[in-house]
Amino acid sequence: MAKNDAEPFSEKLRVPNALTFDDVLLRPMESRVEPDAADVSTRVSKHVELNIPILSAAMDTVTEAEMAIGMAREGGLGVLHRNMNEEQMVASIGRVKRADELVISRENVVTASPGQSISEVDEMMEREGVSGAPVVDDDDTVLGIISGTDIRPYLEVGESDDVREAMTDEVITASEDVGAREALELMYDHKIERVPIVSEGRGAGKLVGLVTMQGILQRRQHEDAVRDENDRLRVGAAVGPFEEERAVAADEADVDVVFIDCAHAHNLNVLDSARAISETVEADIVVGNVGTREAAEAAVDFADGLKVGIGPGSICTTRIVSGAGMPQITAVAEVADVASQHDVPVIADGGIRYSGDAIKAIAAGADAVMLGSYFAGTEEAPGRVVTMNGKKYKQYRGMGSVGAMQSGGGERYLKEETDEEFVPEGVEAATPFKGTLASELHQLVGGMQSGMGYVGAESIPEFKQRAEFIRVSAAGQTEGHPHDVVITDEAPNYSPNE
Ligand code: XMP
Repeated sequence: MAKNDAEPFSEKLRVPNALTFDDVLLRPMESRVEPDAADVSTRVSKHVELNIPILSAAMDTVTEAEMAIGMAREGGLGVLHRNMNEEQMVASIGRVKRADELVISRENVVTASPGQSISEVDEMMEREGVSGAPVVDDDDTVLGIISGTDIRPYLEVGESDDVREAMTDEVITASEDVGAREALELMYDHKIERVPIVSEGRGAGKLVGLVTMQGILQRRQHEDAVRDENDRLRVGAAVGPFEEERAVAADEADVDVVFIDCAHAHNLNVLDSARAISETVEADIVVGNVGTREAAEAAVDFADGLKVGIGPGSICTTRIVSGAGMPQITAVAEVADVASQHDVPVIADGGIRYSGDAIKAIAAGADAVMLGSYFAGTEEAPGRVVTMNGKKYKQYRGMGSVGAMQSGGGERYLKEETDEEFVPEGVEAATPFKGTLASELHQLVGGMQSGMGYVGAESIPEFKQRAEFIRVSAAGQTEGHPHDVVITDEAPNYSPNE
């Protein structure tokens, strides 16, 4: 029973307004900015800059190594999901870091030993995502090179034969100061795809690195790639709210940003643990998800970034199941009010269907946006393409869905993983197959730049200051979509069913 001096319950019904993407539009403004000239570089956390303000979600149907490599090459950041074990996470971080290095450093070179069997090496190369490996003896002297072509069955090499039987032992090597052009010439001249870098002088001939043809060509194609101080692609990894050991393992594997991945980071136990993790690891720590001013205030003193989103995601049922949530534009603005006072970047996570939603999130105060469904249908997302009724799809599921929780995702929702019957906060779905990540990003970033052009802002910080919202009625929303026509050809950046 309410006490006499307590506030009447009916006061609770004097509720504040909270808005989301469809409730607002950017007010067009005087401009001299051509969209293509708008600079979309930004920060995802205090010490990590991106060339495009885009992250791929830490979900098991969105971001594994291949997606993270693709995102970093295009200038964004992939965040590895946490439904893989620690060993797989470390291997995935390594794969991203190795992807476009000119000289892959010794500790990252996958090597074979002369006494290993062919089948062991084949399996190892498959696991590590490489198509060849230098063969070294116990003191790291290079003895040969083994590659896929050496071990194909038509060469009549048995699976249990030793590597030394099948390897190429006339190895072309180079010294540490080799440049990209020189390495490429060596490869063309000798029709090879990799050149081991070996030590000179005393103790000469020991493996110190590796240059690959694929690495050189990839680097040339991706001038906007986001790289760390050692010139390797950047990558993020999600860890559960209480997974300090996993965070340390990610940090030791040179991850750039650790994302504390929780559906409700304003839980004080989660914040205590996140704070402890931030004191232990060197990488930047992004704390999420939050959705209110108060949550931001509780994390802003130690977080290097804040991630916003309580239930806006396309596969989320958090708001329906729990009755709690915060419409995303208001959530971003509340968090950004606090974060901007402390120079902490903000990431808007979830609910983005169109490029227009993404740039609205930036106008509300975000520095970058994270998307799941937008990327789940691309080639780079994990999982295979399935055909239903003649159309191609890929699986997309919430990390709080039954399937994902059974694979270990329950902790994000602060639920026991041993529960026999989960109370899910997400659904399992299919999303249309979309082709390459690069073409999806081209549309997404191009649309965001158009928004910057309408507002007359040349950069993300300027856009955040300058952009103004207007409120849209239901009639205004209808007017904004194609109407009174039958669409005959699908546009690459618009689908009424999205
Ligand atoms: P979009 O809309 O881009 O959202 O597909 C991706 C984001 O949704 C969050 N997420 C979930 N939220 N239940 C939820 O309430 C879930 O099962 C779930 N799975 C992912 C997450 O923040 C992701 O980045």
